Amino acid sequence: MRNVLRRRLSVFAVGAVFLAFAGHAVAGTVSIAPVKDNTLFSEDGALSNGAGMYLFAGVTNFGGLRRALLQFDIAAAIPAGATINGATLTLSLSKSNSGPRTVVLRRVIAAWGEAGSDAGGEEGQGGAAAPGDATWTHAFFDTDLWISPGGDLAAGNVATSVVGSISQDYVWSGAGLTALVQNWLDNPQVNLGLAVIGDEAGTGSTKRFDSMQNPTVSVRPQLDVDFSALGATGACCAGDGTCTSVSDPGSACDGSYQGSGSTCGSNPCTGATGACCTADETAACGELTQSACASQGGVFQGAGGSCAASECPVVLTPYVDPLPIPSIAQPVSGIGGGVATYDIAARQITAQVHRDLPPTLLWGYGDGASGATTPGPVIEASVGEQVTVNWINDLRDSGGQALTKHHLDVDLCPHGASLGETRTVVHLHGAHTAAEFDGYPESTTVPGQSSTYEYPNNQLPALLWYHDHALGITRLNLYMGLAGFYIIRDDVEGALGLPAGEFEVPLMILDRRLRADGTLEYPSAWQEHFHGDKILVNGKVWPFMEVKPGKYRFRVVNASGSRTLTLSLSDGASFQMIGSDGGLLTAPLTLSEITLGPAERADLVMDFEAYAPGTEVILSNSAPAPFPGTPGVGVLPDVMKFVAVAGTGFTGAVAASLRPFTAFDEADTVVERDFELAKVADVCTGSAWAINGLGWDDLSEFPLLGTTEVWRFINRSGIMHPMHVHLDSFQIIDRQDFTVVNDEIVPSGSPLGPAPAEAGWKDTVQVYPNEIVRVITRFEDFKGRFAYHCHIAEHEDQEMMRQFETVVCGDTGGADGVSATDALIALANAVGAGPCMTCLCDVDGGGTVTATDALLILQSGVGQPVTLGCNACL
Ligand code: C2O
Ligand code: CU
Ligand code: CU
Repeated sequence: MRNVLRRRLSVFAVGAVFLAFAGHAVAGTVSIAPVKDNTLFSEDGALSNGAGMYLFAGVTNFGGLRRALLQFDIAAAIPAGATINGATLTLSLSKSNSGPRTVVLRRVIAAWGEAGSDAGGEEGQGGAAAPGDATWTHAFFDTDLWISPGGDLAAGNVATSVVGSISQDYVWSGAGLTALVQNWLDNPQVNLGLAVIGDEAGTGSTKRFDSMQNPTVSVRPQLDVDFSALGATGACCAGDGTCTSVSDPGSACDGSYQGSGSTCGSNPCTGATGACCTADETAACGELTQSACASQGGVFQGAGGSCAASECPVVLTPYVDPLPIPSIAQPVSGIGGGVATYDIAARQITAQVHRDLPPTLLWGYGDGASGATTPGPVIEASVGEQVTVNWINDLRDSGGQALTKHHLDVDLCPHGASLGETRTVVHLHGAHTAAEFDGYPESTTVPGQSSTYEYPNNQLPALLWYHDHALGITRLNLYMGLAGFYIIRDDVEGALGLPAGEFEVPLMILDRRLRADGTLEYPSAWQEHFHGDKILVNGKVWPFMEVKPGKYRFRVVNASGSRTLTLSLSDGASFQMIGSDGGLLTAPLTLSEITLGPAERADLVMDFEAYAPGTEVILSNSAPAPFPGTPGVGVLPDVMKFVAVAGTGFTGAVAASLRPFTAFDEADTVVERDFELAKVADVCTGSAWAINGLGWDDLSEFPLLGTTEVWRFINRSGIMHPMHVHLDSFQIIDRQDFTVVNDEIVPSGSPLGPAPAEAGWKDTVQVYPNEIVRVITRFEDFKGRFAYHCHIAEHEDQEMMRQFETVVCGDTGGADGVSATDALIALANAVGAGPCMTCLCDVDGGGTVTATDALLILQSGVGQPVTLGCNACL
């Protein structure tokens, strides 16, 4: 998907090929695919990746070198005697362990091979070399050695380029490459290919590119060559569909001559087949020529690709299913909307997600004795009125047997994934609640078990959402459908006269990938992000909703695993934003688009009063994936459709002022903490996302209850991370760009305050690449361990989730007197002069209690659970 722009341009260039100049000079550009490519792995001379879909260059975090080799048959694509005017190699980066690094091309001077080795998985560790594969030691395994291990290469770089960390195309060109291609055209016997050499100084520079075996044709390596030739040429198609360029009038062609000016770059040979997908819900595939595919109304996936290698996407008609409105949860006791107790069970169900698809097996939540929906039923609550929920894990097969296997493949690499496949635990996102009721990711239940959670609702009215949070498999459980709405209200908000009843509609928006048989598609091995190719709203793919003339209040949550959404109306109409994660804003904001990262919410009022019945407006999305990415790349533009109908709508005005807001005072800050967001190497998955290089088991933040802290999220990666903190909502102070100088973060430019749409209470904040975002909060009420994490579910599952423990002064670590643990906590809070210090003794006699005292207490207290401090706070 991400190469659409470049490939369009190159198709354009080919289309414009062979502009005849005066005389017989002919010019053109051909895009040449490699004839072979492979990767060398330094750890072992028997590793290779000939048939793999990726190429690697650089050094892993553990010091393993990777070099990629590529070879292009220049002489087959360009007429002999032509002049090469320019050449550009394009490689598509699909994964990076590092920031920008120089990657060079060098000329290979010995013949080498590509055979059937395939590393499998993420491919970073290489696979067993097959006979004939190039390896670090062998040009052809296991017969011909290189003279120099790592490949026989000519001195000097042919071309140089800086490869960043964003998945996109990178190019190499210049005089050196042009001259080399000319040489290869004139002397085909010396064309032994190129080596792609990454930054081999130090470690952790690996870049992963897509290879010629990648199932996505558009991301394969490509050499675009611009040339002029004396005398016209044309493409010659052999019986098997191979194409060579011969001179006009084609007398040298042993096959069918395609005419003067035709070129092999655009694959004109009728014998050249490729996968042809039907553009419908059957997602059928046939191997056809491009023209045969077009005449059958199919979508050609590129010459050379086979049906086995390219799974056809299901193409569904948008806007044929009405938007489902989730039901309101019914309590088992108490009063719905007030103090009440609910039994809510996670169950396996089937549901039709689109008119033209068979039912899909999903997991949902149900408030009755059987059945469930996804999204689950809406829990309505009121400020200060406690809701109790018995969260039941009732995941069973159709015969009633408890499930022990997940419906999706569980990659055991992510932290905690091996603890059981059908674990669930429910977190109420945005809730201010005790640690034991927060859905601690390790406090999971298995089918047949349940947990009773209490939600006091002592917080501002807002749209929260409940979702699964099981350690290591949250992304899978969320993808299966374990999510629902929870709405807290109060009288003040009720008195504002906002659209209500049928005019207040929750919208849960997320992306999925579906097969023609209705089943969910999700990678079996952990990947750093996953983007579906369909958008579902309240459980249906691209639904429509009939709207009466008037205002609707849409309570939107982006429940996607990885996808960010930038929502707007197709007619350009503006709408009002009245609330965000933490509830109402101070006053309505008029917007024409709103960007929501995973887990963010928006409370939007859209007015359809002016639309004549029959008018249709699309709610569309323009956010690239991955995000922020490249404009237009990876976008799924359709979300849902509004169809205006006649009737009586809600026409009241939106109040000009909604709710007062008091900003925290930065001067009250007792601790400022830094959180660096960056990718690290992982032996199992290849890479993982970490916070300060640490993961879930590394507990190092002990906020003191009742105190104010500033957290600085520092994003040292190429994608936006939506950072979420449990327990207490925060306020955004500012955002500032930075650069990295000698591995140090150096802020640049001046800090900017939050955008109006994020100026209220937030629990999830978008942290952009190379940006420091400062948030401020006060930790209140509940002692214990809480999660904070990136809400990209794939990141959260693979170490971009950590925990903090809120403490009180004195005996912070448990009721054992002021002990070494407490001193450790005091020490951890002693950045500056943490308030916990006052609970300890001035053991070094310096006159005040400092971090040194805490350290001394800690050292003397190792192994002694005795009273070490002054106990003044007890
Ligand atoms: Cu919405 Cu910790 O999650
Ligand atoms: Cu949360
Ligand atoms: Cu992330």
